Amino acid sequence: MIVRSEIVFWQLMETGKKPEISESTLVRHKEQEVKKWTVRFEGRLEATLMNYGATLMELHLPDADGKLANVVLGYDHLHDYQEDDRYFGATVGRYANRIANGKFTLNGHTCSLPINNSPNTLHGGPDGFDKQVWHLDDIQTSDTEASLCFTYTSPDGEQGFPGRLTLNVTYVFTPDSMHIRYEATTDKATVINPTHHSYFNLSGKPGSSITDHVLMLNAFGYLPIDPTGIPLSGVSEVRGTPFDFTGPKRIGEDIGHKDLQRTNGYDHCWVLDEPTIDKVCARLSDPASGRMVEIYTSEPGIQFFSGNFPPPEELNEGGRHYIRYSGLALETQHFPDSPNRPNFPSTILSPGEVFHSQTLYRFLIR
Ligand code: GAL
Repeated sequence: MIVRSEIVFWQLMETGKKPEISESTLVRHKEQEVKKWTVRFEGRLEATLMNYGATLMELHLPDADGKLANVVLGYDHLHDYQEDDRYFGATVGRYANRIANGKFTLNGHTCSLPINNSPNTLHGGPDGFDKQVWHLDDIQTSDTEASLCFTYTSPDGEQGFPGRLTLNVTYVFTPDSMHIRYEATTDKATVINPTHHSYFNLSGKPGSSITDHVLMLNAFGYLPIDPTGIPLSGVSEVRGTPFDFTGPKRIGEDIGHKDLQRTNGYDHCWVLDEPTIDKVCARLSDPASGRMVEIYTSEPGIQFFSGNFPPPEELNEGGRHYIRYSGLALETQHFPDSPNRPNFPSTILSPGEVFHSQTLYRFLIR
């Protein structure tokens, strides 16, 4: 069922709170210090980031009664992030999502990438940007904002990708938003497709299911996929399918549909109708807690992954407490396998060019 009247009850949070930032050292890793920073707008928003993977570890937001709780999945210890392959809160790169068979050709040269999601390469390979220690370049606060800028320089040939690529990721926080800006340059032609990989659970109870969250995606099309997650021929209309989120819909409504059985839920890329930072592309709410997030992006696509983790009985020791559907990722990005798809928007970056991308998350309460 699509509920169209819900939106009128939601409001932006109050502003007027000055930010504070605190710093602490987590651990040393590969001769580098892994640190974390907490940005705090008292009573409104608290975000903790670390330079390992330029990762958002925690994001505390108020519910309808003003009670703060963490709304993203994460861990307390670095080794959990190192061992896990779910990319909690990470900056994913050099290429988010899948590249078919770990191969693509650029300027007549075939690039071979390590396979980490057989038979494909996922999220930049097993040692992608999420597994690197980034450099904190800049940290700033003003009366209304706090920002942290991380940089990672990926050597030529790292994980099979050509060109020495430098990526800057800037997180800008206000009491009611998180704005992520990406900028990159390279010394040889390469491909780039970074994304932010937080899993939201707006209830503030990360062990609970997100199937009662309500989602709207501003997309009349999505990319059907083969059994390995690679797009088939092109865009299909969502109308009349379980992929229709053009109006607010409970996530659990169609999650058991036969078309979602192979993936155990949603794990697809939607083709955004209006890929601009000025138009909302996704709206996610949790009616019970009264929290909502709106997403705006310059990217043409959004991968909605409903956290289709193995059921608890299949989890091993390392499986932690996160169960199937305990969080959902809304990853703004270019389309999967673009380096092999001349008909998809290009992900090629050449020397002399500057790559720009941005995604804004606005937090509202009922
Ligand atoms: C998503 C991807 C999923 C899964 C997940 C990490 O971005 O689409 O298939 O690999 O990351 O667990």
